Amino acid sequence: MPANQSILWDNAYSLGIQEIDIQHKKLFEIVNRLYALDEEHSTKEELKTILYEFSDYMRTHFKDEEEYMNSIHFPELSEHKNIHETIIQHLAELIKTPARLGIIKTKMKVLAKHTLIDHIMHEDIKIKLFKLSDKTKQNKIDEEIFELA
Ligand SMILES: [Fe+2]
Repeated sequence: MPANQSILWDNAYSLGIQEIDIQHKKLFEIVNRLYALDEEHSTKEELKTILYEFSDYMRTHFKDEEEYMNSIHFPELSEHKNIHETIIQHLAELIKTPARLGIIKTKMKVLAKHTLIDHIMHEDIKIKLFKLSDKTKQNKIDEEIFELA
């Protein structure tokens, strides 16, 4: 996959939790700005600005996502938090390792796929499934109360 190609949002990535979906989309948007940088003419400052924005926004997003998981009593919160921590460490390493723009773009491509697409499809999806199963449980309880009344 060429490093210049953008990563596309797909509805399959939607968790049906509006606040989180919006943040995931914004992360895609920031990464795509990095891919769009012109290898010959873009400056180190432009690259740095985008990388720091991605890293900062990733931290904000993880914090919000963790608060959300906590609010719904998601049972695998601590495991999920550990995964977030690892992603932040990888990102910090990428930022502090000097390299040519082309190399950084390629590394970001791999990291973005892993931290955005794979993470959403394998980990964040569990939040969605838990939320749905919890709703089903709640519906059943509501029905029982209704029947009792
Ligand atoms: Fe997550």
